[in-house]
Amino acid sequence: MFISHNFINNFNMNIGLKDAWKHSFHIGAAVCRDMLKEEEYDLLIKKHFSTLTVENGMKFGCIHPEENRYSWGECDYIADYARNSNMPMRGHVMVWHNQNPKWLFVDNNETVSKNKLYKRLEDHILSVSNRYGDVVYSWDVLNEAIDIEKGDEKGFRLSDWYKICGKDVFAFAFKKMREICPNAKLYYNDYNNESGEKMDVSLRFLSEMLDAGVPIDGVGIQAHWYYNFPDEKIIRNAIEKYSALGLEIEFTEVDISLYEWSEGREASQFFKLKPEDRIKEQANRYMDLFCAASSYSAVKNITTWGIADNYTWLDNFPVSNRKNWPLMFDENYKEKPVVQALIEEGLKRGRK
Ligand code: GLA
Repeated sequence: MFISHNFINNFNMNIGLKDAWKHSFHIGAAVCRDMLKEEEYDLLIKKHFSTLTVENGMKFGCIHPEENRYSWGECDYIADYARNSNMPMRGHVMVWHNQNPKWLFVDNNETVSKNKLYKRLEDHILSVSNRYGDVVYSWDVLNEAIDIEKGDEKGFRLSDWYKICGKDVFAFAFKKMREICPNAKLYYNDYNNESGEKMDVSLRFLSEMLDAGVPIDGVGIQAHWYYNFPDEKIIRNAIEKYSALGLEIEFTEVDISLYEWSEGREASQFFKLKPEDRIKEQANRYMDLFCAASSYSAVKNITTWGIADNYTWLDNFPVSNRKNWPLMFDENYKEKPVVQALIEEGLKRGRK
């Protein structure tokens, strides 16, 4: 039968990223409650995405602001939306050095004891994972425990968790989670872990934990990347190295900045207009990621940190009040050209 090109294009218009790539991995998005209340976001989520992550609301400080008080509103709303839309969630995050409540590391005006901190963590893990265990398929149990610049000689970040409990608290968190959610996938999540020294230290840490019997199923590569880094070769190498340890991989916080890390720090150097040449490079980076990821069955999810460029943390990081355009949809919720290119590529790979 003759099928015209127009027919194929029109047909593709109704297909979202999640369908085009379902042979390979989930496509996820980090969201907050307010986004789900906007019709434009609701439409994009339902069409293109198959999993959700709570951007901030599940972090310790947000969900457990006082010792005897949880604040469930934001996560309950998002979890109900996910349940009603049949979208499994990534749970983010149990143990992290950032966004913790003041009370957590303090007891009677002194640093909390190791035993008491373990107990607090256990209570927290129990409450949060029991409440959302039905909808969360994959948990970031531990986030960013490695700091190759300011960490100790083994590369461990000098977080309150680590200073008070030592590295055993990391194993404890994974083991507790396995007890409570035996069917969920348990992840170690970090940034800059796709290459260089940070990847080497991460690989060593993970293989030591696995050798010691700690139940870690996967590594989260956050992928806060740049319009000119990394390329497909680097991504493939990272996937091969981590999967050789028997780990799954999820790209958990993807966004692709139009600024290199160290450029554009002064207001006079900010882009006045959206730099279209870099948007094209950014499309290549997204394509490299999807193509590399789909070559390996170990990769289970690609999640972007946000959805459209009208709302991104990169407008204020690492420089505040500097507009950035790191996502696949523009500030008017419109697809950038990369979306149709990815849909076509995904469909093509699915037919093979
Ligand atoms: C880290 C955390 C995320 C989020 C991003 C920036 O990568 O894992 O939860 O805070 O930073 O928004």
